[in-house]
Amino acid sequence: MPKLDPTTSEFRAAGHRIIDWIADYLENIDSRRVLSNVLPGDIERQFAAAPSSQGRSYDELISDFESKILPGITHWNHPSFFAYFSITGSQAGILAELLSAAINANGMLWKTSPALTELETLALRWLRDALGLPSNLFGIINDTASINSFLALAAAREALGLDIRGRGMTGRDLPPLRMYCSEHAHSSIEKGALALGFGASGVVKIASDDAFRMRADALEAAIRRDRADGALPCAVVATVGTTSTASVDPTRAIGAIAAREQLWLHVDASYAGSATIDPSFRWLWDGVESADSIVVNPHKWLFTPIDCSVLYTRKPEVLRETFSLVPEYLKTSDTAEVNYMDYGLQLGRRFRALKLWMVMEHYGLDRLRAVIRDQVEMATRLAAELLKVPGVELLAPPSLSVIVFRLKAGEEATMSLLERMNASGKLFVSHTKLRDTYGIRVAIGNGATEWRHVQQIVDGVRASAESR
Ligand SMILES: Cc1ncc(COP(=O)(O)O)c(C=O)c1O
Repeated sequence: MPKLDPTTSEFRAAGHRIIDWIADYLENIDSRRVLSNVLPGDIERQFAAAPSSQGRSYDELISDFESKILPGITHWNHPSFFAYFSITGSQAGILAELLSAAINANGMLWKTSPALTELETLALRWLRDALGLPSNLFGIINDTASINSFLALAAAREALGLDIRGRGMTGRDLPPLRMYCSEHAHSSIEKGALALGFGASGVVKIASDDAFRMRADALEAAIRRDRADGALPCAVVATVGTTSTASVDPTRAIGAIAAREQLWLHVDASYAGSATIDPSFRWLWDGVESADSIVVNPHKWLFTPIDCSVLYTRKPEVLRETFSLVPEYLKTSDTAEVNYMDYGLQLGRRFRALKLWMVMEHYGLDRLRAVIRDQVEMATRLAAELLKVPGVELLAPPSLSVIVFRLKAGEEATMSLLERMNASGKLFVSHTKLRDTYGIRVAIGNGATEWRHVQQIVDGVRASAESR
């Protein structure tokens, strides 16, 4: 009978080669272009129409990886990657991913690998305490914040007590549902609400103040207006660290309104939540004790390779009532308190807790704190240096590791500066629009970034100012 892998000798040789390749890659990443400059279709057309029938050696595949695939990689691990949220993996995270792939266990039930469930519970308790979050929170890891916010909003909808799980939403007398978030909330919040049947008209975007924070008075007015119109307010999402400017909604004031109006309060701290590992950033959690759910992404700013997003809730029973459905073939007779499949949509679960555990344990909280503090300091220094360049202005107050700026010369000049900097291959920044004004957005979050990498942005902006 043919076996898939008759021996481990080829694996062992290729594995050593691959680890060496990764170490060289990480060591020399600075010398690569950050942003891939291939054209659409360039990668795909290099490959045959069908996979090999006889199989190919690992050596050939590694060579294909280097010559055909790597040119189409934008290097998120590059210390000059400043676009989006410049997430970074880490050596500890990479090793844990390798082990997790080797084990290939599925943590749908405690029984299907007790260590998966118990390490997830442990790592999330450690993380919760390290971030200074309330000790009554239950945590679960899913792939992304998008999915975690969707799960939170599903729980919020169930918490209305209208038995939507049992009776559905159609063919019955149900008022229009409403959920509220800032005009600067991430698109994933609206997407989740759309999937849950709120409808686009059920997502009410609340105006923000001068610093792009949700206005609590505008939230109050919107809820009052909706109630008067016969709609049913269900949930409010406060963003702690918005995508465009890292602005921080006033969770305490929003929480007071949510409590009075009996709305579910979800806090989207996907990016900024990780910063609270350092006590100097704990102010970000002001008012968080009233949150029903909170999302934090270690894959955004805690050096854990994508994907790893954590959902905390003080009402796990609602999440469970919303999602638990146990067919006969998944029933177990053990005394385990948690089977994570009961708290979300997916059944199968990867061993993501291993990398989070390994990152926290290997680096230690002090090193993680120091790196994040340093990144925020570099962002602050970047803002100060940019302001020294004539013709540059900031579009938002500097917040955490995010800076948004533009050339006063206007949108076209700012856009072409961004394109020039990115085309150089030396760095990668992205853009946003704030109140219709186009700006270059820089986020620092890579564990290897030093000031010399950030300085390139200042140099690029200066060169552009001097050439005008
Ligand atoms: C504030 C905020 N929430 C949610 C998300 C979505 O994150 P994910 O890619 O994990 O779904 C992002 C992504 O940048 C974000 O900035």
